[in-house]
Amino acid sequence: VAAFDSDTGPDFAGVSLAGLERIARERLPSNAYDFFRTGSGPEVTIDANVAAWRALRFLPRVLNDMSTVRLATSVLGASIDVPMLIAPMSLQRMAHPDAELGMARATAAAGTIMLVSMGTTIPLDQLAAVPGYRFWMQLYALRDRAAAEDLVRQAVEAGAGAFVLTVDAVVSGDRTSPIQRWPKGGLIYPPGVTEALVRSDAFVYDVDLMLTWDYVRWLASLSSVPVVLKGVMHPDDARRAADEGIRALVVSNHGGRVLDSALSTAEALEGVVSAVGDDLEVYVDSGIRRGGDVLKALALGARAVLVGRPVLWGLAAGGEMGATHALRVLREELAIDASLTGVQDVTRIPEGLVRWSRV
Ligand SMILES: Cc1cc2nc3c(=O)[nH]c(=O)nc-3n(C[C@H](O)[C@H](O)[C@H](O)COP(=O)(O)O)c2cc1C
Repeated sequence: VAAFDSDTGPDFAGVSLAGLERIARERLPSNAYDFFRTGSGPEVTIDANVAAWRALRFLPRVLNDMSTVRLATSVLGASIDVPMLIAPMSLQRMAHPDAELGMARATAAAGTIMLVSMGTTIPLDQLAAVPGYRFWMQLYALRDRAAAEDLVRQAVEAGAGAFVLTVDAVVSGDRTSPIQRWPKGGLIYPPGVTEALVRSDAFVYDVDLMLTWDYVRWLASLSSVPVVLKGVMHPDDARRAADEGIRALVVSNHGGRVLDSALSTAEALEGVVSAVGDDLEVYVDSGIRRGGDVLKALALGARAVLVGRPVLWGLAAGGEMGATHALRVLREELAIDASLTGVQDVTRIPEGLVRWSRV
């Protein structure tokens, strides 16, 4: 457990990601902890996500010169120091007063890009003022097209590098946490928590149930900023995305928060990768809990991962410093596992580095 020093703040040296979650759990009110941790239904998918990454095992390569290991890559032409993006997660003010600003600073320190949730509690211009900060804007497909256009305009002005349209949540899942069960419009946010971009009185957005490829094309037509799809699992949808000219997608089941019993993303990834080849960039999230999981995702053909709950636990445990620590741990673990599997460069992973194991 971290030692807390009043002058220097919490010192997280030596604290693992699991340790950060324990600290977060101790510090957070239970409704906030539940909001972050839980998913839908009996949480089959939450468990499957984590189990699937664990069931993938390395077949390491040896006798490579490992004196330098390159972790940098690029996403949609933007260089990032690690093959990890920050997943869009709403209401970060519920985790810590640093909220999305702390996450933005941790993102910049890690040399990567933050996907800002439409449910951010800090306005985009304040985030954009963080030195070195780069962001992509996550959107749900709002039924109100004028409101969607307004959001797009704000995000373009603030410098969004991409729009990330979340397509796996046309309705809310059957959520297990009390705070997620409040009926539409009925959620009263904890004191100090308000949404900065969308009306702040409703937890459930008015999403367009008629969401189809027409909406995707319409969104793409609003600006020259590329549109990324988040929440694609089926190879045929991935293929269609490539044929529609989409440049990147995220294989995601929303961290088990929407459709329970969705296949784990580690299992879904291979089908998507083989359906699209090099026609678009494939990223993946859900259940990534160690640097080794990042390497496994890349070995299956993902270009980068989105880090979800682990960095949120960091934020909850110690604000910007905690989030920074979470990203540093992931980076260090990734570097160790790359060295031990003979991966000199994460953009050139040898064939056959992982296998499914039953033990
Ligand atoms: C508290 C919380 C809030 C989230 N809010 C959003 C959101 O606003 N938009 C979105 O597309 N995904 C959202 N997600 C899903 C994440 O972007 C990501 O897909 C998921 O957290 C990955 O799973 P993992 O946390 O198990 O790694 C949220 C996830 C959590 C845990």
